[in-house]
Amino acid sequence: MNNSQKLLDMAMKVADNSYSPYSNFAVGCAIFADNRCFYSGCNVENVSFPVGTCAEEAAIAAMIADGGKKIVEILVYADAENLISPCGACRQRILEFADDNTMVYMANTKGIGKSVKAMELLPFVFKEF
Ligand code: THU
Repeated sequence: MNNSQKLLDMAMKVADNSYSPYSNFAVGCAIFADNRCFYSGCNVENVSFPVGTCAEEAAIAAMIADGGKKIVEILVYADAENLISPCGACRQRILEFADDNTMVYMANTKGIGKSVKAMELLPFVFKEF
């Protein structure tokens, strides 16, 4: 099985555990990191809406907690007919741990529908230059 298929399987599985009773929109995210380990996370909503967290946020936190340093590939899965792209805040989060080759896959119930380089998601990411 190639990495992207494994990422899709993991993201679909973790999306099943999404806590999203307010939006009814389950999101799963899976990462293949530089340490050759895989991580995943789902969105976790809250009755105080802004307190909710995104799936990417959870997966990145799991990677960092386990000692991963860089995202090689990241897949965002929506349990929906449409694809989703990572929200603005998550683009900034992804790029914190990305390099020029980091890939972002967007997937839904039909599979992976779009692949882009992480840099393409946020060309003017906040940084000093
Ligand atoms: N969501 C994510 O988990 N990742 C994104 O990149 C966009 C949105 C979640 C947040 C909320 O729980 C639900 O999707 C609907 O916005």
